[in-house]
Amino acid sequence: MQASEDGRIAVSQTGGVMTLQIDRPDKKNALTDALYGALSDALDNAGQDPAIRAVVMLGAGDAFCAGNDISDFLTMTSRQGSEGQAEAQVFRFLRLLGSFSKPLLAGVQGRAVGIGTTMLLHCDHVVLAEDAQLSTPFVSLGLVPEAASSLLLPRLVGHARAFAMLAMGAVMGAQEAHEAGLANAVVPRAELDDAVMQTAQHIAALPPGAVQQTKALMRNREEIARVMDAEIEIFAARLKSAEAREAFTAFLEKRAPDFSSF
Ligand code: COA
Repeated sequence: MQASEDGRIAVSQTGGVMTLQIDRPDKKNALTDALYGALSDALDNAGQDPAIRAVVMLGAGDAFCAGNDISDFLTMTSRQGSEGQAEAQVFRFLRLLGSFSKPLLAGVQGRAVGIGTTMLLHCDHVVLAEDAQLSTPFVSLGLVPEAASSLLLPRLVGHARAFAMLAMGAVMGAQEAHEAGLANAVVPRAELDDAVMQTAQHIAALPPGAVQQTKALMRNREEIARVMDAEIEIFAARLKSAEAREAFTAFLEKRAPDFSSF
């Protein structure tokens, strides 16, 4: 278990299943650099520990994850050069997600914003609570898609719906996400954790080598890594843009952004 002053990632293990719960409910589980670091460390450990057969991602409280912490984004805008960006734990987490060899599952309630949604594209089994709402408002923050979502989302839901989400910030409800193939099931909120754990335990009892090789055959890691790297380069540059700074500042000042001068 790793604690941090502002939220933590609660790590637990039941049988061959490791559960990572983002535990920062008062900030809707927005992810800071420290939380990305803790998630990455846990994924690293899970990947190396032969006893772990599947990893489940959950969020505490009424939202799965409100995406990257906007104050952290603002800090990143002032970092100099590309070294500062390369050290950012978010990019470590993205690369680990894209290359993770064991089955990843997620149980999602309430809002899943930005990386809260794009991390689901790297999961092998997703269960949504009935109130789940997925969105990727990158453009309204002056940013571009990440986590290879520019490749994976259109592939899953088609260009038109992916553009509505990635460029226009459209919110997708649980039922539509299920029908679009983004999730395996929609269940009442009270049944979410049990539903995901049940599937995770089922997967953990399967022959692990065959499971991992099947996942590897189904996901083209090289292609995902290539797209992620291309996205990260543009994303890191856009973080420093005046458009992004205005969007982040507006969010923190609880006002509407004003892009009229750009
Ligand atoms: N970064 C930093 N703080 C965040 C956050 C984020 N991504 N998302 C939510 N919070 C904070 C809010 O500022 C608020 O803090 P406060 O209580 O100190 O004022 C607290 O979490 C609760 O959020 P609030 O906006 O009051 O909850 P809500 O239920 O009305 O709305 C969201 C939930 C997720 C829709 C809304 O918080 C939101 O749009 N967040 C930003 C999402 C985003 O753009 N993420 C980046 C994607 S790339």
